[in-house]
Amino acid sequence: MSVIDRYAVFGHPIQHSKSPRIHRLFAEQTGQTLCYTAQEVLPENFHHAVSTFFADGGKGLNCTVPLKELAWQYAYQSTPRAALSKAVNTLILQDDGTTVLGDNTDGCGLLTDLTVNHQLVLAGQQVLIMGAGGASRGIIAHLLAADVASIIIVNRTIEKALHLAHEFNQSIPVKGLGFADLAGYQFDLIINATSASLTNQLPPLSNHLLAPQGICYDLAYSNEDTPFVRWGKQQLAQKSLDGLGMLVEQAAEAFFLWRKVRPETQTVIALLNAERTHTA
Ligand code: ATR
Repeated sequence: MSVIDRYAVFGHPIQHSKSPRIHRLFAEQTGQTLCYTAQEVLPENFHHAVSTFFADGGKGLNCTVPLKELAWQYAYQSTPRAALSKAVNTLILQDDGTTVLGDNTDGCGLLTDLTVNHQLVLAGQQVLIMGAGGASRGIIAHLLAADVASIIIVNRTIEKALHLAHEFNQSIPVKGLGFADLAGYQFDLIINATSASLTNQLPPLSNHLLAPQGICYDLAYSNEDTPFVRWGKQQLAQKSLDGLGMLVEQAAEAFFLWRKVRPETQTVIALLNAERTHTA
């Protein structure tokens, strides 16, 4: 009897997750037979839910808000990029059938969306990252590897920004600031890695922070423009983007880790974009 390989995304809340749809599209496109579901999991139940999933024959998991740090702690081994971000969004059952490897495909997903899908050149850019939680942690090393000129991390709780900046400040300057300290700066790329969009809020940004032809990118995505995407449009950003492309790209990387087949992403992004234009 052949058993279908099972995958899932765990998170809270999870009902609006697009991951099951994305992975089903990838499976169809690459001729893979698998099942991918979404499961509501609270942090206090995480360990039990993951252990049960793998004990019942599950092959791989995605973990989203607020479980990525727990997933990192859970993984028996983690990749260097996951260790740097101290957050895991992909768990992979290894060939021995018991070891679970943790990886983080978020930073890679963002870079692919920015540089391949949107053809943006990051080298030499002045970057502002808003937020100093797990989402910021997952992208900083990738931006540094793309040779940006500098990164400022700005956070409501300034100590967290200072701490994170200190961790990554090496040959490329990475500095932590509070929102009130941003006057006089201008950035080529502003990334919203706070969780503010999830509650329809905008971090306390003043005008004139975005350089002419600058780019705004919200790691969150929504059927309507997020408050930050709207802010970017008001500031006349060259592009003001949300994280739908990153979502599809990080999923493609996870799919590749699980199935050793790389799905094509452009048609999936185009399809999801068309669907939300209809539902917005
Ligand atoms: P994640 O894993 O998604 O990064 P997190 O670790 O809880 O989630 O971090 C959330 C980030 O969003 C934090 O940097 C938080 O700022 P504080 O550290 O000051 O709490 C930031 N954040 C959340 N809501 C915000 C808001 N309305 N305005 C500005 N920053 C906000």
